[in-house]
Parts: sequence; structure tokens; C-alpha cells
Amino acid sequence: MNVVLGITGGIAAYKTPELVRRLRERGADVQIVMTASAAEFVTETALQAVSGRPIRSNLWDKEAEASMSHIELARWADVVLIAPATAEIMARLASGAAADLLTTLCLATEAPIAIAPAMNHVMWSNPAVQSNRATLEQRGVQMLGPDHGSQACGETGAGRMLDPDDIAALVFGPDLGGRPVEGSLSGKTVLITAGPTREPIDPVRYITNRSSGKMGYALARAAAGEGASVILVSGPVNLAEPRGVDVVHVATAEEMYAATHDRIGDVDIFVGAAAVSDYRPADAREQKIKKSEETMHIELVRSKDILVSVAALDDAPFTVGFAAETENVRDYALGKLQNKKLDMIVANQVGRDRGFDQDENAVDVFWDGGEQSFGQAAKTELARDIIELVVARYTATRGADTQPALPKLHAID
Ligand code: PMT
Repeated sequence: MNVVLGITGGIAAYKTPELVRRLRERGADVQIVMTASAAEFVTETALQAVSGRPIRSNLWDKEAEASMSHIELARWADVVLIAPATAEIMARLASGAAADLLTTLCLATEAPIAIAPAMNHVMWSNPAVQSNRATLEQRGVQMLGPDHGSQACGETGAGRMLDPDDIAALVFGPDLGGRPVEGSLSGKTVLITAGPTREPIDPVRYITNRSSGKMGYALARAAAGEGASVILVSGPVNLAEPRGVDVVHVATAEEMYAATHDRIGDVDIFVGAAAVSDYRPADAREQKIKKSEETMHIELVRSKDILVSVAALDDAPFTVGFAAETENVRDYALGKLQNKKLDMIVANQVGRDRGFDQDENAVDVFWDGGEQSFGQAAKTELARDIIELVVARYTATRGADTQPALPKLHAID
């Protein structure tokens, strides 16, 4: 697929090198067209390196026009994608302006046009911007987002550019005439649990943990990027839903257990990335507990272990657990791998500012007879590495139908 990627001058332009990589990983040829203000946020050098093509930015560049004119470029495109799309480019597209290379080729192309708006939430809700959005949509321009969430300006609202993985998935989706993703997990179903659980004490209080869901959501995106059908059973998190993924929202460990087992039938690979509460209050009160004595006791009972129950199924999927440990990470992880009868375990050292609720992490992955370490990196990168390893082990074990029997060790939780 030939993608003309128009980059305009918004802070989200710093994410475009990653977007180019995600598009190219899916097999796209990407020709970048930058506006003058985009160069304030991202360099031509970086974009040229990731796209492998000279950047186009000027309608009056005689040399570039001689090799491929803006009309040829408009014909070359299978899709014109503008990301990030500022309020300014939306206004110019809506007005039919053709004062620069990007707007001119948008007028000259017969390819579908998609834009990923990115701007402050008050700007996005401004009636002028919304009227331009409606005009563009009426003319068939596809709106990719924006997302709702925290913004570069420090405020929260609708206006964030979609995640590069999600934009790439949509560009290859049916609405833009793309082909479904062909990857190492095409035809496979992957179920991933993510985030924390909330165990109610009474109607207004609960027990939970610091999991943000970032790791599990990144794994869901990575598996979808490999062509898998992905089911994401998610505890309460504040993250955008990955595009093309079937997200099932739950709150408690019991709900996560039920949602997982309701859907596990056709699942090929199960990944337990959620931080499931090991215990829950024995008796969640119907009414708010009033304060009385100086101390109080809440009796806790064990939750059912979702991971163990999946691995114990007769026709168990390839089962991957996580081990979150503050000490003896390797020993505890190896114990869990064997005792819970897993195919693979991803171990991470966790602490106050480590593992939980961080954008980055470092993990050691263990399986029967092997291990691999992945150093400190963005969870999005780690997720792709982990999924690649899962695919390799899944193919090696399930492909050859040689599931090794693991000896039972003493219980470690
Ligand atoms: O969500 P983030 O902020 O991105 O943080 C990521 C993470 C630290 C939560 C993630 O990397 C991680 O380690 N997830 C597992 C956390 C955990 O609960 O670990 P554990 O060692 O207590 O549990 C072992 C395994 O059993 C896990 O796969 C867990 O999902 C599973 N389990 C545990 C209890 C239970 N009742 N059911 C389960 O399925």
C-alpha cells in the first residue's frame, strides 16, 4: 500500500517516526509530505531515515517535482493520511485551499483521505473546528480519532492523536480499502488480561493495586499487529481501547475469571498480564461501613487463580503468565512457571516506581529449557518482543505437538 503521510505542525508530530515504522512494518511504502510548521516538532532527518524516502515539503521544489510531480504523487497514493492534523489543516482542507504541497495533493488525489486530528480539547470542541470536521466527513474524509485523555498542555479531554499502532491498524482496515493484517498470528485468537481488579469492601471502598494496564494493552496491540483476533479482558484503567480489539471491561477478580472462561473456548494463546487481586473481602457490605472502634478487621478470602485455571483446562491454550516480584524474581518466576504448569512466564521486578504504572519496564522471560532477557524499554517495544517470543515458542511446541510435562514443585505464590 502506498501511503502519503502528511505531517502538520502539532506537538503530536513527535510520534510520527513511530507511526512511519508501524506503517512500514505492515508493508506500506510511505512518502512523507511535511508542512513548514511540522518541522518545528520533528526533523526531516529522522523522518527520512525511518521512511527511506526523501521528504517532500515544497510545492515549488523543481528537483523533487521533476522526479515525481505533486500530481504523480497524488496518483501514486493508495491512501493520503494526515497525522497529526491541526485545526489549521482541517480549515484549509474544508475551504478547498491549494496554497501548498499537502493541500494541493489532497485536491488532486482520488485516493481516500484520512486525518488524525490532534489539538487542545477546547480547540477541538470549538464550533468552527466541529463545522470543518462535519464538512470533511460529508466529503468522505475519514476521521481517525481523536482520543480522549491527558494532553501535552497538561489538561485532559478529547483531542489527543490516536496511538500510532491504532492509526496504522485503521489505515490497513477495510474503511480505507486496506487489506487485513497478515502476520505471524493470522488466524489465531489471543486472550489477554490487563490492569488491576477492584474488590469491594462496601459500596464506596475497594481493595486494588497500582497496575495501569499499560503492559496488557500494549500486548493486545502487538498481537493485533501480528494479525491475531484479540480479546482483552480489562480491569478498570484509564487507557484508550486498542482499535480492532474486542475489549471486555470487568472490575473484580471474579468478573475477570468469568469473562475469561466465557471466551476461552477458541483461544489459542492466553496471556495473564493483569494484576489480579489474590484476596477479596469475605463479606462486601451493602451499606457504607461507619467508623466506630480504633481498629477494624476485614476478613479476606482467596480469589480463584485465573491463570492456573486456564492452564489446567483439558484443551488448554498456550498459556503465558506474568510474575511481579519485589525480590528473588528469578526463583519465584521459575517456581510459578512449573507449579502453575505454564508454557512461559514473563518476570518483572516491581516496586514503588518500577513495573507498575510506568511507561517502561525490563523483563526476563522463562520457559522450559530456555530464557531471554529484555532490558529497560518502552512497554510498547517490550510487548512486541514478548509477542515475537510467544509466537516462536507457540510454533515450536504446539506446531510439533510436543508439549513437555513439567514436574510439580512446592507451591509458590
Ligand atoms: O499494568 P501496568 O501498570 O502496565 O504494570 C504491568 C504489571 C506490573 C502489572 C505486569 O507487568 C505484571 O507483572 N502483571 C502480573 C501482576 C501479578 O499479579 O503478578 P503475580 O505474580 O501476583 O501473579 C502471577 C500471575 O498469576 C499473573 O499472570 C496474574 O495475572 C495471574 N493471576 C494471579 C492471581 C489470580 N487470582 N489470578 C491470576 O490469573
